[in-house]
Amino acid sequence: MTHALFDASMPNPGFRRSIGDAGRPIDLKDPDFHGRADQYDRFKDLRDNDPVFWNGDVGGSGFWAVTRFDDVEAVTRDRATFSSDYKRGGMRIFDVKDVTSNPRPDIFTTDPPDHTSFRKALQPQFTAEAVALFRDGIRRRVRRLIAGVADKGHAEFVSEIASPVAAGLLTDLLELPEADGVNLMKWSNAFIGDDDDDYSPSVEYRIGCVRSLDQYVAGLLKERTGSGRNDVLTVFTRMTIENAPLDFEGLCENFASFIVATNETVRHTISRSIVALTDFPAERAKLRADLTLMPFAAKEFVRWATPLIHSRRTATRDTVLAGQAIKEGDKVVIWYKSANRDERRWPDAMQFRVDRYRSSDAPAHIAFGSGINHCLGWRYAEMQITVLFEELLQVLPDIRAASPPKLLRSNFIAGIKALDVDFTPVAYQA
Ligand code: HEM
Repeated sequence: MTHALFDASMPNPGFRRSIGDAGRPIDLKDPDFHGRADQYDRFKDLRDNDPVFWNGDVGGSGFWAVTRFDDVEAVTRDRATFSSDYKRGGMRIFDVKDVTSNPRPDIFTTDPPDHTSFRKALQPQFTAEAVALFRDGIRRRVRRLIAGVADKGHAEFVSEIASPVAAGLLTDLLELPEADGVNLMKWSNAFIGDDDDDYSPSVEYRIGCVRSLDQYVAGLLKERTGSGRNDVLTVFTRMTIENAPLDFEGLCENFASFIVATNETVRHTISRSIVALTDFPAERAKLRADLTLMPFAAKEFVRWATPLIHSRRTATRDTVLAGQAIKEGDKVVIWYKSANRDERRWPDAMQFRVDRYRSSDAPAHIAFGSGINHCLGWRYAEMQITVLFEELLQVLPDIRAASPPKLLRSNFIAGIKALDVDFTPVAYQA
């Protein structure tokens, strides 16, 4: 149990927690900043006045905060200068070496050639053809979940719809029983919930989750290693990274990164989209009038939600970004959340518009990242969102947030932990 998820042997097991600096007018590392009502005004101030802003850090070295779309994209596209390799620190604000004595490579935290090996090995499961094979199963699951709440008139959207939808894809991709999704979700929540007492209440709780995950992976490996199967975990067992197969810790690390990538993105995007449709009734009306808009609306839902708030790179050499000198070794944190509201790219960036992407000229968003780390799962994400809302808006067309969402406390994932929804009850069978 010594990998980047949690390493109890580290002198400061609490390092992953983000300590906000009350004395700083803007501290993007502060998880509470990301729940503030004025956060988008503050991001706009940064984009307008200090687009590569030095964010000091209590207990850390500080980082450059990049907030404009073009600069964020430029960083993601210049891997020779901006690395996310774990040996340089990785892709979180904290350094991997500060949270584990036993760091392991994964797809998010390697540079080429190892990153290219990860990508090539996973690619076959992520082609348009491979994704299309999952569509009917996802629709059946979605219908079953909607049928489970339809006659009640209200639901807790996250636990009754969003979580099982997201976890369901994960268990499909990993070829696991759907019921195991409950534990996968619990572990995933613990791993990203560093700053949230509901998701990661204590060091002991976190240790328990890592231990359970490790045991679970050990069981799967026993049955799958050498099996010739093509699920994501078995594919990891066949990989050569740093000239050797991944060891047990490396396999656990990669398994965990994968469950986080799948769970903590689509789930929150669909919950945030319910809030957006509640806040923008005219946009809901457009969708209800023409459900063929849904594949385009899915792109706007993702731009609007931007579930992965930031990613981090480390400068490999002295460089200049938007006029700002950056030194080799500096942390450079790209704020996808801000880039996706940049009015330089979309004059109406603060408007939620379900038909924005009907025009193929509409500038693409960057919620899926860009460059060599561009999200491998984007097709699955758009398909799940499209299928869910096609079904939901037919059966429960007036589904709406009944109260403000309960937000995850995080600077990394724009999560919604709970969302009460109301709708006109109907008799519906899947
Ligand atoms: C709305 C949903 C999603 C969003 C917004 C999203 C966002 C992202 C972003 C921003 C990155 C790049 C991270 C970086 O810059 O360091 C990424 C990478 C990745 N995502 Fe997604 N993701 C979503 C859904 C998914 C799903 C459903 C899966 C799996 C089925 C997935 C698997 C991955 C993988 C494997 C990578 C690593 C790619 C690489 O480094 O080459 N994602 N995602």
